[in-house]
Amino acid sequence: MLAKIKNIFIVLLLVLIITQFLRPEKNLGSYDSITSFEEATGVSEEVKTVLQNNCYDCHSNTTRYPWFMEVSPVTHYMAYKIEEGKEHFNVSTWESYTDKQKDRKLEELIEEIEYKKMPLKPYTWVHGELSGSDAKTLIGWAKEAREKAKAPTKDSLPEQVVDSMAVSSVTAK
Ligand code: HEC
Repeated sequence: MLAKIKNIFIVLLLVLIITQFLRPEKNLGSYDSITSFEEATGVSEEVKTVLQNNCYDCHSNTTRYPWFMEVSPVTHYMAYKIEEGKEHFNVSTWESYTDKQKDRKLEELIEEIEYKKMPLKPYTWVHGELSGSDAKTLIGWAKEAREKAKAPTKDSLPEQVVDSMAVSSVTAK
């Protein structure tokens, strides 16, 4: 019995050592792609910090790699989750979504946070849970971004409406 356990242990150790050398490709794109998402959705400095600390590692093309993320099997697990996370929601490819998709992503973002499904579980063991106030910050920002995207722009309104807007803003003074 004891010998068997010892053998299993040795095999596990070997697997761990070998997989250290099988490095998955890193997710190290430029931050520029995130900037256009942040501009489009009106991300403030506060929101930016929360997103950077809790979400971008799996939902953008730019992941931070602290030492423990370099170690197998964490590195393999994370590579897999980053791939999956980006497939569902990638801020680095925000511009490639249609307006409808963008709205849907923001709606899901609110839901995921409300149901405490994001950030993903094992990730929060090391990075910590999203605090109540951070969750509120993100939900507030996402709701506002959805509203803003829905508000008609001047270009989409008929000319007469734009004219009357100009008149009312003059008379309001
Ligand atoms: C450790 C990686 C990881 C982190 C960190 C993470 N996510 Fe996710 N996220 C995923 C994965 C994987 C999925 C898809 C599978 C699932 O829903 O579990 C997902 C799904 C989502 C979806 C659903 C998108 C869709 O179209 O279905 C949203 C929205 C989302 N995450 C937002 C966030 C936000 C906001 C944060 C930060 C508060 C965050 N995620 C942090 C990995 C992560």
